[in-house]
Amino acid sequence: MFGELLKTSVHEGKEKHVPVIHAPAEVKAGEFFSVTVAVGEEVAHPNSPEHHIKWIQVFAHPEGSNPIQVANFDVAPGSVEPRVTFNMKLENTAVIYALAYCNIHGVWEANFRISV
Ligand SMILES: [Fe+2]
Repeated sequence: MFGELLKTSVHEGKEKHVPVIHAPAEVKAGEFFSVTVAVGEEVAHPNSPEHHIKWIQVFAHPEGSNPIQVANFDVAPGSVEPRVTFNMKLENTAVIYALAYCNIHGVWEANFRISV
């Protein structure tokens, strides 16, 4: 299963890959709010053509329905920090999942629950 390939904070070594999700813990139904996803916030991840965060994807899993992909960012090594911000809205309480892909160390996951 692909899910078994996902790494989380328990797999972290010296370099930090787990995305950090900044979002409100509670929002109003249908109102836009800001979400920031950052990799290497405390300890910067390498950002060179040889070793970099290639993409960040964000999914929302509303209670009682299937997950939807809400954002997909492909970032250029060397030029763009692996830190993205976007606005989204929810109609129901959901868990936000952020995935970040390092070209050497694989896919890393974090999640954050937002109550509506
Ligand atoms: Fe890495």
